[in-house]
Amino acid sequence: MSKLYFQKAQSIEKLLSALSYSSIFILVDENTFKHCYPLVRGMLPDHTLIQIEAGEQHKDINSCQLIWNSLSQQNADRNALLINLGGGVITDIGGFCASTYKRGIRFINLPTTLLSQVDASVGGKTGIDFNGYKNQIGVFNEPEFVLIDTSFHQTLPERELRSGFAEMLKHGLIADAQHWKDLVGCDFNLISNQLLENSVSIKQKVVEKDPNEKGLRKILNFGHTIGHALESALLNSNEPLLHGEAIAHGMRCEASIAYELEYIPQEELNQINESLLKIYGPLKIKKALRENILRLCKQDKKNQNGDIRMSLLNKIGEANYDIAVSENTILNALDNCL
Ligand SMILES: NC(=O)c1ccc[n+]([C@@H]2O[C@H](COP(=O)([O-])OP(=O)(O)OC[C@H]3O[C@@H](n4cnc5c(N)ncnc54)[C@H](O)[C@@H]3O)[C@@H](O)[C@H]2O)c1
Ligand SMILES: [Zn+2]
Repeated sequence: MSKLYFQKAQSIEKLLSALSYSSIFILVDENTFKHCYPLVRGMLPDHTLIQIEAGEQHKDINSCQLIWNSLSQQNADRNALLINLGGGVITDIGGFCASTYKRGIRFINLPTTLLSQVDASVGGKTGIDFNGYKNQIGVFNEPEFVLIDTSFHQTLPERELRSGFAEMLKHGLIADAQHWKDLVGCDFNLISNQLLENSVSIKQKVVEKDPNEKGLRKILNFGHTIGHALESALLNSNEPLLHGEAIAHGMRCEASIAYELEYIPQEELNQINESLLKIYGPLKIKKALRENILRLCKQDKKNQNGDIRMSLLNKIGEANYDIAVSENTILNALDNCL
């Protein structure tokens, strides 16, 4: 597993000095170029900047070509180093391009959104979207290290912070009741290093036990069967959801399924609902969208033999996976929660 450092981004200079490399490349998008690059620029040895356009729609093969082209034109050899400075889009695509260029050069993640700090930059999944499907092409590969600095939050829109916070709440719900409690009582605009560290270490421990998602790692998908379906269903609507927002609503729906299937008691369901509604508010969707959401749930990658399989809670702080859930149960949850 990669080493995680919770320190100021400026310490990159010292961390790099322990590595040997032939050249350094920094991958940014226009926002991280503007807001994040100035924080580290002075600490970096000679390097080449590679900039792609911001946004999920650019996590694609065209941006890969741009990145591979830059590496190639600058004669990057096998000993070159790519530093991914950005949110999950940058760490996903940068990790993928580094892993495939000349059969693999090393890369470093310097995540700049809360979501990428607690989730995307850790765990070794890299990749891009393809033919309209998310994360369709990719590889498992670990960065040399991940450097996590909360100073980057200062320029993040509040909505992005709130979205990333959902993955932290998820970590508490699936694995650590105390972490859930700590988060529910805190302000997501002011996340401490300690909370961040606790949250990431939950993911790290799960991934360590099951790096290739054969079993246990699936618990990290709690909230994601319905969450992903909501995200896709509303993608081209007037009000698309950010990933973490969709997951927050997905967690409410899936907690209600866990209650329905008698995994969690009523008081825990109430506690989850109240806390999530307080932060994310309710989500109202048109009745007509429900069948579409169900259809999208059927495409989830965790399904087996045509059954919809979910990761659900056993209780606050513990989760299970591969639970078959009927279509009716899902439709009921959508009716009750949205
Ligand atoms: N590999 C994994 O395990 C994993 C896990 C979760 C999510 N992901 C992926 O992560 C992506 C979502 O990540 P994200 O939410 O970080 O998206 P993102 O990279 O698109 O960042 C969100 C927005 O914030 C901007 N931004 C980034 N840092 C900033 C800063 N410090 N100040 C101001 N603006 C800043 C970006 O330019 C972008 O416009 C998705 O593609 C998802 O599939 C991957
Ligand atoms: Zn997620």
